Amino acid sequence: MKYFRPVILLILLYHCTQPEQYPPLLEETSHLRDSTMAPFYHGVASGDPLYDQVIIWTRVTPQDSLPDIDVVWEMAVDDSFQNVVNKGTVSTNPNKDYTVKVDVDGLDAGTSYFYRFHALGKSSMIGRTRTASNDAGEVKFGVVSCSNYEWGYFNAYGALAQEDLDAIIHLGDYIYEYAPGGYGDTTLGRSPIPNKEIITLQDYRSRYSQYRLDKDLIAAHANHPFINIWDDHEIANDSYKDGAQNHQEDEGSYEERKKVARQVYYEWIPIREGSKHYRTFDFGDMADLIMLDERLEGRTYIADSLGDPSLADSSRTMLGKEQRNWLISQLRSSDAQWKVIGNQVIFSYLNWGHPTFNINLDSWDGYPIEQQLIADVLKELDDVVIITGDTHTAWAFEATNKPFDEYNQDTGEGAFAVEFGTTSINSSNSNERFPDSLVLLHEQKIINSNVNPHLKWGNMRDHGYMILTLNEEGAKATWKFMETIKEPRLDIKETKTMWVNSGEVKLKE
Ligand SMILES: [Fe+2]
Repeated sequence: MKYFRPVILLILLYHCTQPEQYPPLLEETSHLRDSTMAPFYHGVASGDPLYDQVIIWTRVTPQDSLPDIDVVWEMAVDDSFQNVVNKGTVSTNPNKDYTVKVDVDGLDAGTSYFYRFHALGKSSMIGRTRTASNDAGEVKFGVVSCSNYEWGYFNAYGALAQEDLDAIIHLGDYIYEYAPGGYGDTTLGRSPIPNKEIITLQDYRSRYSQYRLDKDLIAAHANHPFINIWDDHEIANDSYKDGAQNHQEDEGSYEERKKVARQVYYEWIPIREGSKHYRTFDFGDMADLIMLDERLEGRTYIADSLGDPSLADSSRTMLGKEQRNWLISQLRSSDAQWKVIGNQVIFSYLNWGHPTFNINLDSWDGYPIEQQLIADVLKELDDVVIITGDTHTAWAFEATNKPFDEYNQDTGEGAFAVEFGTTSINSSNSNERFPDSLVLLHEQKIINSNVNPHLKWGNMRDHGYMILTLNEEGAKATWKFMETIKEPRLDIKETKTMWVNSGEVKLKE
């Protein structure tokens, strides 16, 4: 036995002096990467701006599955990084899907900053962000929802990147969960990854990775801080606290799916970690932005017909009691001029005017007792603007509910707020299924009509984004509609503006 000892020692020494070998990191989205951005293929992002803090984000994609990567970050007031105001080192690893998030503090309010990351001997692209202003004469937000990779190009994100904004508010449906062909245009070659409905941790991670390799979404994130809330498709269609229309028993536990969807959302979105998704952002005396969670926090099941007796039940809730009480106290205690509610599904009553589909029970109309309770609080207040996503349609409501007996459609009297709906970035709306002429007829039937006297304007045909501008005089929504989503072009074909003066609810155009 003595004879073998030196050999064993030599073998051990050999292994100890060799660099550790790690298996290659294989990813389904690797063919979508721009090699010049290595290893920061997903660009950079920022979000949740406060007066002195903002989240910055990136992802490092190593060639091999490294257990730990050190990432240096720096933030400066200039894009040549001569004047760095804060910097540090963080580490990332496979448990975070190699994402990196830093809550940078010690910043000045209402100030633009530049940031970048360094890792594995390379540097990321430079991002631009902005802290919340506390004394601005005007606040300007981009407002978006509903981006579906398979339906077409993210041209609206690309155009939005070029706007001058305080922040982009994303009202949800940032991703869609479907398998290829489940909801999209399969002729464009933008098939969703993975090649199935997303259910597992790896599925959700791959889907976010695919979306975040899109050059227009990279540009939007790199140029503006985002303030995100989720809607249903970040989990599964028509989700609520205890289930979803698109979650079946054979897909495993819904609780587990929610947990996974939430984990990956927080990995990939530049959002501040916290126990609650709903949260408020202050913009000085000008605006308080109250962002709601209308899916996972407390929402009870979605009724499937107007005959459902639970529609008259006061326990039916979109927000859950705790969030509802929080919303009411946020509204009543706000000392800002504008109270902006970041809302996923339409708050105002809406008759869709279809023979078989008049009322969308997934919206606030499916939670009428709570809808009225909140409307009664809004009646006490001036200058409330509700901003809404979800419907893939642009809307302008003098917000009111049925019956319209307190509402005067000529003066706006009796309305308790205005509600502006943003259309989809590119998820399908009526004109993907019907010719424009037919959709126009439908618009005429339901807008400014007997069934919806408070719905002053809408566009059910086009995709794009909304700009919300708030100042002392009023609140203005400008919708910008893209020429196309079927090829990569940033041309805007049409804009539309509606506004309300301070202290009023009468919409003007
Ligand atoms: Fe959507």
